[in-house]
Amino acid sequence: MSEALPFDEYLELPNWRARTVDIEAYKRFWRTTVEDFVGFWEKEARNLEWFRPWDRVLESGEHPFVFKWFVGGLLNISYLCLDRHAKSWRRNKVAYIWEGEPVDGDGRPLSTRKYTYYELYREVNRLAHVFLSLGLRKGDRAAIYLPMIPELPITMLALARIGVIFTVVFSGFSAENLAIRVNDLGAKVLVTADGFYRRGRLINLKEVVDKAVESTDVEKVVVVKRAGNEVSMKEGRDFWLHDLLRTVPENVSVEPEPLDSTHPLYVLYTSGTTGKPKGIIHDTGGYAVLLNSTMKWVFDIRDDDVYFCTADIGWVTGHSYIVFGPLMAGATIVMYEGTPDYPTVERWWQIIERNGVTIFYTTPTAVRMLMRFGNEPVQKHNRSTLRIIHSVGEPINPAAWKWLFEVVGERRCPVGSTWWMTETGGILISHLPGLMLTPLKPGTNGLPLPGIDAEVVDEKGVVAAPGQRGYLVIRKPWPGMLGPPTGMWKEPERYRQVYWEKVNGVFFTGDYAVKDVDGYIWVAGRADEVLKVAGHRIGTYELESVLVSHAAVSEAAVVGVPDEIKGETPVAFVVLKSGYQGGNETAEQLIKYVRETYGAIATPSSILFVSKLPKTRSGKIMRRVLRAVATGGSLGDLTTLEDEAAVDEVKESYEQLLKEVRRGR
Ligand code: WTA
Repeated sequence: MSEALPFDEYLELPNWRARTVDIEAYKRFWRTTVEDFVGFWEKEARNLEWFRPWDRVLESGEHPFVFKWFVGGLLNISYLCLDRHAKSWRRNKVAYIWEGEPVDGDGRPLSTRKYTYYELYREVNRLAHVFLSLGLRKGDRAAIYLPMIPELPITMLALARIGVIFTVVFSGFSAENLAIRVNDLGAKVLVTADGFYRRGRLINLKEVVDKAVESTDVEKVVVVKRAGNEVSMKEGRDFWLHDLLRTVPENVSVEPEPLDSTHPLYVLYTSGTTGKPKGIIHDTGGYAVLLNSTMKWVFDIRDDDVYFCTADIGWVTGHSYIVFGPLMAGATIVMYEGTPDYPTVERWWQIIERNGVTIFYTTPTAVRMLMRFGNEPVQKHNRSTLRIIHSVGEPINPAAWKWLFEVVGERRCPVGSTWWMTETGGILISHLPGLMLTPLKPGTNGLPLPGIDAEVVDEKGVVAAPGQRGYLVIRKPWPGMLGPPTGMWKEPERYRQVYWEKVNGVFFTGDYAVKDVDGYIWVAGRADEVLKVAGHRIGTYELESVLVSHAAVSEAAVVGVPDEIKGETPVAFVVLKSGYQGGNETAEQLIKYVRETYGAIATPSSILFVSKLPKTRSGKIMRRVLRAVATGGSLGDLTTLEDEAAVDEVKESYEQLLKEVRRGR
């Protein structure tokens, strides 16, 4: 664990002197907010505009551990994101600055678009009108499979406006992954695009949709023209968005549906340890409150800020902190279609310079990748506007943190690592430049947010001693948590088991963490069979299912191995069916198969062919053995046998497997 930065040095940063406090002062304040967390969140909720105030702040739902926030309250998040600003002086303020990936001969973006709050409001109204005319009504479901283009937030806001529950599927996912989500949610309408650009390549998205939709009940597909690539349109099912919009009056207005605070805003699917992806439900009221408060505390968002979050809206970070959070805050948001290294590794720094970005929210994987190219590509571009930097998605190693602090932020900007997950809806542990800033330490997540009772505990829920590794749990409900009616879409029992059973009665995050003597939390990574590959959450079980669906594969087990850039990459152990041969060619075929069947983000870094998988007598795969073999590392301490196997057994299968894998190479 790293040392705190010398606080004195930190206090020399003139912009932040007024906001800095010592750790104890923050903790004293924090304790009062957690003791009366209901009263505290009620106060925060008053910062939003409600159509009708709530009757009760917090109530238990019909299923165990499904909580209802701000019961009786009515609101609409699209109203909070748009109408409120469109009626104010912000009406002509720029909401989105969008930049497409392709560039001209001078390296300048070929296409950029800007939307003021009023323009965004108009576009959303027109699209909401289109959705109504397609027959969508409050409580119906729709799926969105769009790249990083302005139509993506516009679609989310239009659906939210009329109370249609939506799911966004990351545009890098395969047809299979798209179909699983569309079917689970029961989506009637799918919104997509013809294609888009990624690292200079044109991706034909519609082709994937055509394949996926066959195995779903989708009735209508709305297609945005982005890339102009050739696509096939099925009569009666597929509609170009520009054709649908042509008939809509320019000034049409669709009243925002007054929705219950507990009305599901969206379902976002995320990987777990077993089974199909989990449909995480977020409500409307609690979610809006958490985002509104975190935009202030974590990002210190102000009206003259230019805010740039590099995530993809297909993941939760984009939902909360490219769309709903910053729009509610009335921010100017930079949105970029492509990758940070196209056409060169200067792309993000150019975007920051061109737009005068003040707040930069990014990921450790990207930072580690960009660091390899040295300081020059960064220093060539003016970053003097930057004032706050945060990262998210995986632990940030101290070297990457220091590079952000010293090189990117020129020792002027607080740099944080905001901890949260799809399930939490918004940031729960972070430095808080917008509220009270405690000393920075390279690599830590910092202290829990006000009202958030995050702790590090053992299996029994006993608080771990400082420096001791334990599980990260949240001991009190928070607004933004998994929402009614069932927490997990259609699976209330699975919701209870996954999150509330492991450590009795408190919310189990699935992460390992350590708390230091100052109470700072350092999340170390997942404690379950979930991988974080370049910050993307991937279930080993899902990859194993993909592999065994291949004709040549009899059994498969996937483990994560450390990777310098991506944090972690998947390595697959594969037992072939008789009659099939291992070797490079088969390995390449399987890798291609995974890319096509799951998506490129899950590409295994290697495939190791073995004659059998190491298992305990009860049939459990000994993942520790696999991990040791895959990394060339040792078995580690065998006295804590996570695999419930005898020590000799573990050693023996390790030796055996190692021999086999070496022979295979
Ligand atoms: C990990 C992403 C360390 C963690 C918002 C969590 C982090 C999982 C951090 C959720 C961080 C996220 N430091 N680890 N700052 N942020 N994680 O659902 O393991 O894609 O459980 O949400 O990412 O991933 P998800």
